[in-house]
Amino acid sequence: MTDPRILSSVRADDDAQYEAGLRPKTLDDYIGQDRLRENLQVSIEAARNREEAVDHVLLYGPPGLGKTTLAYVIGNELGVSVRATAGPVLEKPGDLAAILTNLQPREVLFIDEIHRMSPVIEEILYPAMEDYELDIVIGQGPGARSVKVPVQKFTLIGATTRAGLLTSPLRARFGIVHRLDFYNETDLLEIVRRSAKILNVPMHAAAAEEIAKRSRGTPRVANRLLRRVRDYAEVRADGTISKPVAKDALELLEVDEHGFDEADRRLLRAVIEKFGGGPVGLNSLSAAIAEEKDAIEDIYEPFLIQIGFLDRTPRGRVATARAYDYFGLETPGKDSKLW
Ligand code: ADE
Repeated sequence: MTDPRILSSVRADDDAQYEAGLRPKTLDDYIGQDRLRENLQVSIEAARNREEAVDHVLLYGPPGLGKTTLAYVIGNELGVSVRATAGPVLEKPGDLAAILTNLQPREVLFIDEIHRMSPVIEEILYPAMEDYELDIVIGQGPGARSVKVPVQKFTLIGATTRAGLLTSPLRARFGIVHRLDFYNETDLLEIVRRSAKILNVPMHAAAAEEIAKRSRGTPRVANRLLRRVRDYAEVRADGTISKPVAKDALELLEVDEHGFDEADRRLLRAVIEKFGGGPVGLNSLSAAIAEEKDAIEDIYEPFLIQIGFLDRTPRGRVATARAYDYFGLETPGKDSKLW
Protein backbone atom coordinates (compact mmCIF):
# COMPACT_ATOMS: atom_id res chain seq x y z
CA MET A 1 0.00 0.00 0.00
CA THR A 2 1.29 3.46 -0.77
CA ASP A 3 2.05 5.51 2.30
CA PRO A 4 -0.43 8.42 2.21
CA ARG A 5 2.26 10.73 3.58
CA ILE A 6 4.28 10.21 0.45
CA LEU A 7 2.86 12.54 -2.10
CA SER A 8 3.35 11.79 -5.74
CA SER A 9 3.28 15.48 -6.33
CA VAL A 10 2.66 18.34 -4.01
CA ARG A 11 0.57 20.81 -5.95
CA ALA A 12 -2.47 20.20 -8.09
CA ASP A 13 -1.19 22.63 -10.68
CA ASP A 14 2.08 20.74 -10.89
CA ASP A 15 0.16 17.54 -11.37
CA ALA A 16 -1.62 19.00 -14.32
CA GLN A 17 1.68 20.09 -15.85
CA TYR A 18 3.22 16.74 -15.25
CA GLU A 19 0.30 14.85 -16.70
CA ALA A 20 0.39 16.98 -19.75
CA GLY A 21 4.03 16.03 -20.08
CA LEU A 22 5.22 19.60 -19.88
CA ARG A 23 7.91 18.97 -17.35
CA PRO A 24 11.35 18.30 -18.74
CA LYS A 25 12.70 14.89 -17.80
CA THR A 26 16.39 15.42 -18.48
CA LEU A 27 18.91 18.18 -17.83
CA ASP A 28 19.26 18.66 -21.58
CA ASP A 29 15.54 19.40 -21.87
CA TYR A 30 15.63 21.75 -18.90
CA ILE A 31 15.70 25.34 -20.11
CA GLY A 32 17.47 28.16 -18.24
CA GLN A 33 19.28 28.19 -14.86
CA ASP A 34 22.44 27.47 -16.86
CA ARG A 35 24.99 27.55 -14.06
CA LEU A 36 22.87 25.40 -11.79
CA ARG A 37 22.33 22.91 -14.62
CA GLU A 38 26.02 22.68 -15.37
CA ASN A 39 26.92 22.19 -11.71
CA LEU A 40 24.33 19.47 -11.33
CA GLN A 41 25.54 17.78 -14.50
CA VAL A 42 29.03 17.52 -12.98
CA SER A 43 27.77 16.25 -9.59
CA ILE A 44 25.51 13.66 -11.23
CA GLU A 45 28.13 12.36 -13.63
CA ALA A 46 30.77 12.12 -10.88
CA ALA A 47 28.41 10.21 -8.59
CA ARG A 48 27.36 7.93 -11.44
CA ASN A 49 30.99 7.12 -12.26
CA ARG A 50 31.80 6.38 -8.64
CA GLU A 51 28.55 4.43 -8.27
CA GLU A 52 27.69 6.53 -5.25
CA ALA A 53 24.65 8.51 -4.19
CA VAL A 54 24.77 12.20 -5.12
CA ASP A 55 25.49 14.47 -2.16
CA HIS A 56 22.39 16.02 -0.55
CA VAL A 57 20.98 18.93 -2.55
CA LEU A 58 19.22 22.04 -1.27
CA LEU A 59 17.28 24.07 -3.86
CA TYR A 60 15.86 27.41 -2.86
CA GLY A 61 14.04 30.23 -4.58
CA PRO A 62 10.55 31.60 -5.29
CA PRO A 63 7.74 29.15 -6.10
CA GLY A 64 7.18 27.94 -9.64
CA LEU A 65 10.78 28.13 -10.84
CA GLY A 66 11.28 24.37 -11.10
CA LYS A 67 12.60 23.02 -7.79
CA THR A 68 10.29 19.99 -7.87
CA THR A 69 10.93 19.51 -11.58
CA LEU A 70 14.68 19.49 -10.94
CA ALA A 71 14.32 16.87 -8.20
CA TYR A 72 12.61 14.55 -10.70
CA VAL A 73 15.17 15.41 -13.38
CA ILE A 74 17.98 14.46 -10.98
CA GLY A 75 16.24 11.18 -10.12
CA ASN A 76 15.73 10.44 -13.79
CA GLU A 77 19.34 11.27 -14.68
CA LEU A 78 20.47 8.90 -11.92
CA GLY A 79 18.04 6.21 -13.04
CA VAL A 80 16.45 5.98 -9.58
CA SER A 81 13.00 6.59 -8.10
CA VAL A 82 12.07 9.80 -6.34
CA ARG A 83 10.10 9.55 -3.09
CA ALA A 84 8.39 12.88 -2.56
CA THR A 85 6.98 14.35 0.60
CA ALA A 86 6.73 17.77 2.23
CA GLY A 87 7.81 19.35 5.51
CA PRO A 88 4.30 20.07 6.86
CA VAL A 89 3.10 16.52 6.03
CA LEU A 90 5.70 14.82 8.24
CA GLU A 91 4.04 14.96 11.65
CA LYS A 92 5.53 12.14 13.70
CA PRO A 93 9.13 10.88 13.79
CA GLY A 94 7.77 7.51 12.68
CA ASP A 95 6.49 9.10 9.44
CA LEU A 96 9.99 9.98 8.33
CA ALA A 97 11.61 6.85 9.79
CA ALA A 98 9.24 4.69 7.71
CA ILE A 99 10.13 6.54 4.54
CA LEU A 100 13.87 6.45 5.22
CA THR A 101 14.04 2.75 6.04
CA ASN A 102 12.16 1.91 2.83
CA LEU A 103 14.59 3.76 0.53
CA GLN A 104 16.56 1.74 -2.00
CA PRO A 105 20.27 2.45 -2.60
CA ARG A 106 20.94 5.84 -4.25
CA GLU A 107 17.25 6.77 -4.37
CA VAL A 108 16.15 10.36 -4.08
CA LEU A 109 14.05 11.56 -1.16
CA PHE A 110 12.48 14.88 -2.07
CA ILE A 111 11.20 17.05 0.78
CA ASP A 112 9.34 20.12 -0.41
CA GLU A 113 8.91 23.10 1.94
CA ILE A 114 11.68 21.64 4.04
CA HIS A 115 11.73 24.79 6.19
CA ARG A 116 8.34 23.75 7.60
CA MET A 117 9.57 20.50 9.08
CA SER A 118 9.20 20.21 12.85
CA PRO A 119 12.34 20.16 15.05
CA VAL A 120 11.74 16.53 16.15
CA ILE A 121 11.62 15.38 12.55
CA GLU A 122 14.73 17.37 11.79
CA GLU A 123 16.59 15.51 14.57
CA ILE A 124 15.79 12.22 12.83
CA LEU A 125 17.14 13.54 9.58
CA TYR A 126 20.60 14.57 10.85
CA PRO A 127 22.14 11.10 11.43
CA ALA A 128 20.33 9.79 8.34
CA MET A 129 21.93 12.48 6.17
CA GLU A 130 25.35 12.29 7.77
CA ASP A 131 25.93 8.63 8.64
CA TYR A 132 23.03 6.90 6.87
CA GLU A 133 21.58 5.61 10.10
CA LEU A 134 18.61 6.33 12.34
CA ASP A 135 18.71 6.64 16.11
CA ILE A 136 15.54 4.97 17.27
CA VAL A 137 14.54 5.13 20.92
CA ILE A 138 12.82 1.99 22.18
CA GLY A 139 10.76 2.09 25.36
CA GLN A 140 10.22 4.90 27.83
CA GLY A 141 11.69 6.12 31.10
CA PRO A 142 14.81 4.60 32.67
CA GLY A 143 14.53 1.43 30.58
CA ALA A 144 14.57 3.32 27.29
CA ARG A 145 17.44 2.56 24.99
CA SER A 146 18.55 3.80 21.64
CA VAL A 147 19.27 1.54 18.70
CA LYS A 148 20.89 2.48 15.45
CA VAL A 149 19.14 1.34 12.29
CA PRO A 150 21.04 1.60 9.02
CA VAL A 151 19.45 3.22 5.98
CA GLN A 152 20.61 2.96 2.37
CA LYS A 153 22.88 5.61 0.95
CA PHE A 154 20.38 8.04 -0.51
CA THR A 155 20.20 11.61 -1.77
CA LEU A 156 18.02 14.09 0.06
CA ILE A 157 16.77 16.92 -2.11
CA GLY A 158 15.26 19.69 -0.03
CA ALA A 159 13.31 22.53 -1.58
CA THR A 160 12.39 25.78 0.10
CA THR A 161 11.19 29.23 -0.78
CA ARG A 162 13.06 30.54 2.27
CA ALA A 163 16.59 29.31 2.82
CA GLY A 164 16.82 31.81 5.67
CA LEU A 165 14.28 29.84 7.71
CA LEU A 166 16.35 26.65 7.69
CA THR A 167 18.22 25.93 10.90
CA SER A 168 21.97 26.13 10.43
CA PRO A 169 22.66 22.48 11.38
CA LEU A 170 20.25 21.37 8.66
CA ARG A 171 21.65 23.75 6.05
CA ALA A 172 25.19 22.63 6.88
CA ARG A 173 24.34 19.04 5.98
CA PHE A 174 23.65 19.81 2.34
CA GLY A 175 26.75 19.42 0.16
CA ILE A 176 25.12 21.04 -2.88
CA VAL A 177 23.20 24.27 -2.40
CA HIS A 178 21.68 26.22 -5.28
CA ARG A 179 19.40 29.19 -5.67
CA LEU A 180 16.95 29.27 -8.58
CA ASP A 181 16.57 32.70 -10.16
CA PHE A 182 13.69 34.19 -12.10
CA TYR A 183 13.98 33.26 -15.79
CA ASN A 184 14.81 35.81 -18.44
CA GLU A 185 12.44 36.45 -21.34
CA THR A 186 14.49 34.41 -23.83
CA ASP A 187 14.35 31.30 -21.65
CA LEU A 188 10.66 31.78 -20.92
CA LEU A 189 9.96 32.16 -24.61
CA GLU A 190 11.68 28.85 -25.24
CA ILE A 191 9.64 27.24 -22.46
CA VAL A 192 6.37 28.59 -23.89
CA ARG A 193 7.29 27.36 -27.38
CA ARG A 194 8.29 23.94 -26.06
CA SER A 195 5.05 23.61 -24.07
CA ALA A 196 2.89 24.73 -27.02
CA LYS A 197 4.57 22.10 -29.17
CA ILE A 198 3.90 19.37 -26.59
CA LEU A 199 0.29 20.51 -26.18
CA ASN A 200 -0.03 20.69 -29.95
CA VAL A 201 -1.36 24.26 -29.95
CA PRO A 202 -0.81 26.36 -33.04
CA MET A 203 0.72 29.67 -31.95
CA HIS A 204 2.28 32.66 -33.69
CA ALA A 205 5.77 33.77 -32.63
CA ALA A 206 4.53 37.17 -31.46
CA ALA A 207 1.91 35.49 -29.28
CA ALA A 208 4.54 33.33 -27.58
CA GLU A 209 6.52 36.48 -26.84
CA GLU A 210 3.45 38.12 -25.33
CA ILE A 211 2.87 35.17 -22.99
CA ALA A 212 6.56 34.93 -22.04
CA LYS A 213 6.67 38.66 -21.28
CA ARG A 214 3.76 38.40 -18.85
CA SER A 215 4.90 35.29 -17.00
CA ARG A 216 6.67 36.95 -14.05
CA GLY A 217 9.91 35.17 -14.87
CA THR A 218 8.22 31.93 -13.77
CA PRO A 219 7.74 28.77 -15.89
CA ARG A 220 4.73 27.63 -13.86
CA VAL A 221 3.02 30.94 -14.63
CA ALA A 222 4.04 30.69 -18.31
CA ASN A 223 2.52 27.22 -18.62
CA ARG A 224 -0.62 28.27 -16.76
CA LEU A 225 -1.11 31.32 -18.98
CA LEU A 226 -0.50 29.20 -22.07
CA ARG A 227 -3.24 26.77 -21.03
CA ARG A 228 -5.69 29.60 -20.32
CA VAL A 229 -4.89 31.35 -23.60
CA ARG A 230 -5.34 28.05 -25.42
CA ASP A 231 -8.82 27.74 -23.87
CA TYR A 232 -9.64 31.25 -25.05
CA ALA A 233 -8.31 30.60 -28.55
CA GLU A 234 -10.45 27.48 -28.85
CA VAL A 235 -13.63 29.09 -27.54
CA ARG A 236 -13.44 32.64 -28.86
CA ALA A 237 -11.27 32.15 -31.97
CA ASP A 238 -10.29 29.40 -34.39
CA GLY A 239 -7.90 27.61 -32.02
CA THR A 240 -4.74 29.36 -33.21
CA ILE A 241 -3.05 31.61 -30.67
CA SER A 242 -2.29 34.79 -32.57
CA LYS A 243 -0.98 37.92 -30.87
CA PRO A 244 -4.41 39.64 -30.74
CA VAL A 245 -5.97 36.45 -29.34
CA ALA A 246 -3.23 36.21 -26.67
CA LYS A 247 -3.68 39.86 -25.77
CA ASP A 248 -7.47 39.59 -25.47
CA ALA A 249 -7.20 36.41 -23.40
CA LEU A 250 -4.64 37.96 -21.05
CA GLU A 251 -6.77 41.05 -20.70
CA LEU A 252 -9.74 38.91 -19.71
CA LEU A 253 -7.50 37.22 -17.14
CA GLU A 254 -6.51 40.70 -15.88
CA VAL A 255 -2.84 39.95 -16.40
CA ASP A 256 -1.17 43.15 -17.55
CA GLU A 257 1.96 43.76 -19.63
CA HIS A 258 4.22 43.31 -16.59
CA GLY A 259 2.50 40.07 -15.62
CA PHE A 260 0.83 41.72 -12.63
CA ASP A 261 -2.54 40.43 -11.59
CA GLU A 262 -5.16 41.95 -9.36
CA ALA A 263 -3.33 40.94 -6.15
CA ASP A 264 -0.05 42.58 -7.21
CA ARG A 265 -1.85 45.79 -8.02
CA ARG A 266 -3.72 45.72 -4.72
CA LEU A 267 -0.44 45.32 -2.85
CA LEU A 268 1.31 48.17 -4.66
CA ARG A 269 -1.72 50.43 -4.35
CA ALA A 270 -1.92 49.75 -0.61
CA VAL A 271 1.74 50.66 -0.08
CA ILE A 272 1.26 53.89 -2.02
CA GLU A 273 -2.21 54.96 -0.95
CA LYS A 274 -2.63 53.59 2.55
CA PHE A 275 0.93 53.91 3.77
CA GLY A 276 2.19 56.95 1.86
CA GLY A 277 4.60 54.83 -0.20
CA GLY A 278 6.05 53.12 2.87
CA PRO A 279 8.00 51.99 4.69
CA VAL A 280 5.31 49.60 5.84
CA GLY A 281 5.75 46.45 7.91
CA LEU A 282 4.61 43.03 6.75
CA ASN A 283 1.88 42.75 9.42
CA SER A 284 0.25 46.04 8.47
CA LEU A 285 0.47 45.28 4.76
CA SER A 286 -1.01 41.83 5.25
CA ALA A 287 -3.94 43.27 7.21
CA ALA A 288 -4.51 46.05 4.69
CA ILE A 289 -4.81 43.78 1.66
CA ALA A 290 -6.18 40.68 3.42
CA GLU A 291 -3.44 38.39 2.14
CA GLU A 292 -1.44 35.90 4.18
CA LYS A 293 1.99 37.13 5.22
CA ASP A 294 3.56 34.02 3.73
CA ALA A 295 1.89 34.63 0.38
CA ILE A 296 3.18 38.21 0.36
CA GLU A 297 6.73 37.14 1.21
CA ASP A 298 6.87 34.04 -0.99
CA ILE A 299 4.77 34.89 -4.02
CA TYR A 300 4.11 38.58 -4.57
CA GLU A 301 7.08 40.40 -3.15
CA PRO A 302 10.04 38.57 -4.74
CA PHE A 303 8.92 39.42 -8.27
CA LEU A 304 7.92 42.99 -7.45
CA ILE A 305 11.34 43.51 -5.89
CA GLN A 306 13.12 41.80 -8.79
CA ILE A 307 11.59 44.14 -11.37
CA GLY A 308 12.13 47.18 -9.19
CA PHE A 309 8.59 48.13 -8.16
CA LEU A 310 9.11 47.46 -4.48
CA ASP A 311 12.03 47.80 -2.12
CA ARG A 312 12.61 46.04 1.15
CA THR A 313 14.30 48.16 3.77
CA PRO A 314 15.01 47.40 7.44
CA ARG A 315 12.00 49.55 8.30
CA GLY A 316 9.60 47.90 5.87
CA ARG A 317 8.43 47.77 2.26
CA VAL A 318 8.72 50.88 0.11
CA ALA A 319 7.11 51.64 -3.26
CA THR A 320 9.65 52.81 -5.86
CA ALA A 321 9.30 55.55 -8.48
CA ARG A 322 8.43 52.85 -11.02
CA ALA A 323 5.45 51.80 -8.95
CA TYR A 324 4.16 55.39 -8.89
CA ASP A 325 4.71 55.67 -12.66
CA TYR A 326 2.79 52.47 -13.22
CA PHE A 327 -0.34 53.96 -11.64
CA GLY A 328 0.24 57.29 -13.37
CA LEU A 329 0.91 58.92 -10.01
CA GLU A 330 3.49 61.52 -9.27
CA THR A 331 6.42 60.26 -7.23
CA PRO A 332 6.80 61.99 -3.87
CA GLY A 333 9.01 65.07 -3.96
CA LYS A 334 12.65 65.25 -2.92
CA ASP A 335 11.65 66.43 0.54
CA SER A 336 10.13 63.02 1.22
CA LYS A 337 12.11 60.52 3.21
CA LEU A 338 12.69 58.42 0.11
CA TRP A 339 14.07 60.81 -2.46
N1 ADE B 1 8.75 23.56 -17.78
C1 ADE B 1 8.81 24.11 -16.57
N2 ADE B 1 10.04 24.53 -16.29
C2 ADE B 1 10.80 24.24 -17.35
C3 ADE B 1 12.17 24.42 -17.66
N3 ADE B 1 13.01 25.02 -16.82
N4 ADE B 1 12.60 23.97 -18.83
C4 ADE B 1 11.76 23.39 -19.68
N5 ADE B 1 10.47 23.22 -19.46
C5 ADE B 1 9.98 23.63 -18.30
